[in-house]
Amino acid sequence: MNRRLLIPMLLLVSLLLTACGNPGTGPAQDAEKSLIVVGFSQVGAESDWRKANTLSMQTALSPENGFRLILDDAQQKQEKQITAIRNFINQGVDYIVLAPTTERGWETVLMEAKAAGIPVIIVDRMIEVADTGLFTCWIGSDFRKEGDAAVAWMDARFGDAPLRIVHLQGNIGSTAQIGRTDGLDAGLAAHPQWQLIFRASGDFTQAKGQELVEVLLREGKAFDLIYSENDNMAYGAIDALKKAGLRPGEDVKTVSFDASSTALHMILSGEISFDVECNPLHGPRVRSMIEQLEKGETPPKFTYVEETAFERDGLTEDAIAARGY
Ligand code: AHR
Repeated sequence: MNRRLLIPMLLLVSLLLTACGNPGTGPAQDAEKSLIVVGFSQVGAESDWRKANTLSMQTALSPENGFRLILDDAQQKQEKQITAIRNFINQGVDYIVLAPTTERGWETVLMEAKAAGIPVIIVDRMIEVADTGLFTCWIGSDFRKEGDAAVAWMDARFGDAPLRIVHLQGNIGSTAQIGRTDGLDAGLAAHPQWQLIFRASGDFTQAKGQELVEVLLREGKAFDLIYSENDNMAYGAIDALKKAGLRPGEDVKTVSFDASSTALHMILSGEISFDVECNPLHGPRVRSMIEQLEKGETPPKFTYVEETAFERDGLTEDAIAARGY
């Protein structure tokens, strides 16, 4: 090649490489680097509640708000959550948020996070660890209080009358299951005429809720009330009742938890009798905790979300639409 052409060409190539050849620099990369990186280990997508919870986290911890959220869906398996947390540690995230499947079995991996200097925020359910210094703070529901609220409604509605109860439990060992089951057990102990005719876990899913009630009905079991530890299992149970020609709300009452939009509409139609709120909108709450930590402040170690309960009286379409999940 002609030497007079070669030198300007080399200069041009070098200019082009500087302008667009180095992927690690530039305003976009600088903005990306300044984001707070949060690894979120989510239980799964087993329920409407869970989907609303994931969306709330994604919306609050968005790049527009200064965050990069790495979401891991554990498909309701604790071992997947432990692997996800180890991956977050290897990636050097700034914060780990854990929505735990069950209460036990977190010590080892949380010690690893602590050794790596990564703050851990627990959301929704609780964990049981001897050293609460393994996590920075927790926010979630008082699940025992939720169970007590359901039983208080049953007591007001049925008192000491005979009541045959079908109990659909959530994932065994999760705080949501433990608190709601303890509430019902206390109610059973206080009402000798209430009879527990069936109890099994439907894993918080609609399919399992339906399957369990279908089997019961095929076996010819009669009952007056279904105590379902979440809305999705209640939807499945109600489908099973309808398929068997029973009238939900008339022949069999249903008490449920979460107060998702679909369930509240089913209260209006009379299919669900009573629903205790379990609020999934934790995204803004977690964001506020991280912002406090970033400023060097100390958020409260434990924060219980205020919750209510619903029955048909006083419930309106507008009130449902305003709730956000
Ligand atoms: O931990 C909260 C519970 O988990 C909700 O009641 C249920 O719907 C979810 O899957």
